[in-house]
This record gives sequence, C-alpha cells and structure tokens, in this order.
Amino acid sequence: MQPYYGITIDKQDQEHLYIQVYKHLRTLIFNNSIKPHEKLPPIRKLSAILGVNNVTVVNAYKLLEEDALVYKKIGSGTYVAPVEDELENERDMEERHRIVPYDFSVSSPTADLFPVKDFKIVIDEVLERDKGYAFGYHESQGFFPFRQSLSAMFGGSKVALDPDQIQIISGAQQGIDLVAKSVLDYGDYVFVEAPTYTGALASFKLKGALIVEIPILEDGIDLEALSQQAKKLKPKLIYVMPNFQNPTGYCYSVEKKRGLIEIAKSCGAWILEDDYAADLNTGDALVSPLSAYDPYDRIIYVKSFSKVLMPGLRLGYMVVPEALQDEIALAKHATDISTSGLLQRAFDLYIRKGLWDRQIVLMKRIYDKRHAVISRYLKSHEVPWVHYHLPQGGYNYWITMDAALNADELMWRLNKKGVAVLSGSTFYHLQLKSSSFRLSIAAIDEKEIEAGLGIIFNEIEAMYHEMSGSKPGLMKSQVL
Ligand SMILES: Cc1ncc(COP(=O)(O)O)c(C=O)c1O
Repeated sequence: MQPYYGITIDKQDQEHLYIQVYKHLRTLIFNNSIKPHEKLPPIRKLSAILGVNNVTVVNAYKLLEEDALVYKKIGSGTYVAPVEDELENERDMEERHRIVPYDFSVSSPTADLFPVKDFKIVIDEVLERDKGYAFGYHESQGFFPFRQSLSAMFGGSKVALDPDQIQIISGAQQGIDLVAKSVLDYGDYVFVEAPTYTGALASFKLKGALIVEIPILEDGIDLEALSQQAKKLKPKLIYVMPNFQNPTGYCYSVEKKRGLIEIAKSCGAWILEDDYAADLNTGDALVSPLSAYDPYDRIIYVKSFSKVLMPGLRLGYMVVPEALQDEIALAKHATDISTSGLLQRAFDLYIRKGLWDRQIVLMKRIYDKRHAVISRYLKSHEVPWVHYHLPQGGYNYWITMDAALNADELMWRLNKKGVAVLSGSTFYHLQLKSSSFRLSIAAIDEKEIEAGLGIIFNEIEAMYHEMSGSKPGLMKSQVL
C-alpha cells in the first residue's frame, strides 16, 4: 500500500492515534500539500495505509470538520475546504466599490479576509468549556495559558521564551502608549524613524516628549545621524520598526540592528521595537526581531496581531525588560485592568488548534499575489520621475516622486479619481511637504491593483509635465 503523503503514526506516543492523524492532515492542508477541493482518502483505505482502525480515521476527519478544514459530500467522501474560493465568494465588491474603488491607503486586511467562521468555532468552544469564567476579571498581565501559547509559538524567534516575560495588551497601540506612560517624563527626548507610524507619534506627544526624527534608509535607520544626535541629546527612548517599516516597507540589515542596539546602550536609551508585520514575510528578508540581537535587556518588544487577523479584536502582546516590568504592569492595570478575557481565551484556542498558522499562510498567499502584480507593474513602468523600493513582505510600498512634486497634491488629485493613497507628509513630525507617498496593498484586491496604479502613474506624469512645462512622453533629461 502506498503511504499517504508520508504520514507515519507512532503507536508508542502518548498522544491518541486519532489526534496524530488529525494533526498530520491539518499540517498537509495548511501547507497546501492537499489542495482545496481535493478528496481525502476513504476511511477504510487510510486506516489500512496507516495501520490503524477505522474509528481512528473517522475521529480524525470529525476534528477536521469541526475546524471547518474539510467538508463532506454525501455518498462521495471528505474534501478539503476551499478557503480562498470561499473568501472570493463572500467578498462584497459592490460595497467596497461604493467607498473607494482603488484604495491603497488602508493598512489592515479587509473584512472578507477575517476568519469569522473559525473564530465562531473557538468562541463557542470557550463558552462551552469555561462558562462564566470567561467573563470574570482576568489577571492584568494576561491569561496564563494564553501567555504559554505565545511563548511556545514565538520562543523560536528568541522573543519571550518565558510566559512570565509576556504582557498581554489590547493591541500594539496600547503597548506603545503604556511605554509612553511608564517610561517617559515631560520633556524627554524620543527618537523616531523619519517617516514613522503616526499612532506612536501621538502617544509620545501626548506625554509631552520632544520628538527627534532620524532618517530611515533602505537598510535601516541612519546610524551616523542617530549616533550624533544620541550623543548630543541623550534620548530616553528610540522607537523603531525593524521589519517592513511603516510606511516605507524597509527592513534593517543585521549590521544596522546590532549598531542600533550599541548606540542605545551607549546613551542609556530604551528601544521600543514595534513588530507589526514580520509575520507577513513573503520573501527572503531576515526578519528576526531586534530583540534576538540584544544582550543588554534594553528592548521593549511590542507585537500586533491586527495585520494578520482582525484589528477589532484588539489583541497583542509585549515583552518587557525586567527593569520595566513593574511600571508597565502598573500602567496596564490603570489603563483597562486587563485585556478581554473572553478574547484572550478564544485566541489561545485559535493558536492551539493551529488556526493562527493557517491564517498566516492564507494571508501570505494573498499578499504574495498582490506583491507579484505590483512589482510587475512597477518594473515595467520605470520612469525617471518615480523611485520605488520593492519590499519583501508586509504590505507597504514607499514611492518617491521627483523632488519638485508634492504628494499632498497628488493625494487630492487621485481622490477625485477614486484612488486613495497616503501622502508622505502624514508620516512626519515636522516635515509638512513630501514628494513621497505610501501605497498599501492590504485592502486592495489583486484584480484592481493594475488599474489603480495606471491612474496613479498617469497622474504623476501629468503633474510632472505641468511642473516642467514639457509635453508628455519626453524624458527628464530632454526637458531640463
Ligand atoms: C506600525 C504600527 N504599529 C502599531 C499599530 C497598531 O496596531 P494594533 O491594531 O495592534 O493596535 C499599527 C496600526 O496600523 C501600525 O501600523
């Protein structure tokens, strides 16, 4: 008998045989070895292949069905559920078209990609299992089994090996705000990348911090500028996004990661690492968190789940250096006592069932296709008045136009044509004018990207020729 995808069962293992079969099949579905709509072997056949009895396979199939990973056709058999097709069908294009036909401005997945069915399953199961306990006050640091799941899941990336190091937060934005509340005093210097995430700027400014912008380059923050300013101003905090930086999509090289840590150490600054998109690594980028290179315990690591899952869940976690744990815990308690216990329990089960891993695979597949379309377009429409960087993951592209062009103007002109982008000026503390803008592929369908980019590039070309007084079609060298 031919083996089935190399599945082997260990009869000496303490784990029930049906759970072993279920987990093997689940992995094969998640990594796309068994494709949507592919038929699983009949029960008797798989039992014979694996040397187990029929009930073992029946129970394994039942678990897969409960997870909505397979469906049954009466009289025909068990088939792998069609995750993406189903999503396509559910997509309410008309609804989205009514708002903005080509929306490159949104930085979170659209509702049609939310795993609502899976979440319903885990919420129902939690309510059945935990009853009223799910609705009591929860430990401020976070539901312990959830912290255990997270430490097991992220331990491999050298962040949070110990559940006691983890603080559950109601989204990464809350983590940033807790750091501002507990680390910063009025008048402290905070260094940020320029451009940067505006939500973080808001928290630092509300605390009365003085913001200093350090340019970010394609391989990470400008270490020379950082070092000079750090010597002069002795910042309390340096806020960075080393992987797929928002808004640029840039990733730090390992040298830059190490260099940043040394500079922070030498000036006594804490580093706040915002790891909002590393899960969406679709290329070969080295996305180890900065914390993996930190020998000094000076990094506060904040992780968001919003960019892969559902931002409305308001869930995230942080790993806090020992010296700051008490202050952060106090700030968290004073802010909202704890993050929703029901949602922590549901997300814990979601991870334990392997559904988080599956969702990442799904999101990466979708974003991969979008990246392919956008990079194909950009490469085949090279013009001297546009510079771009191709990220290896995440969903943000930073496009820089000729220095004489104003991205605010482009944004307003595109708005009238049903295209939304965000002007670079949005992402600075002081700089009011920018010739760059951010394109996000988080909320635009693969099929709409090319048409949307066509409108954007035509508009940039029109602005360029208006500015230079030249006729469309002439090269920059000919018009200057
Ligand atoms: C860089 C960055 N950090 C943090 C956040 C906030 O994430 P959360 O939804 O987990 O609070 C965002 C949201 O857009 C973001 O872009």
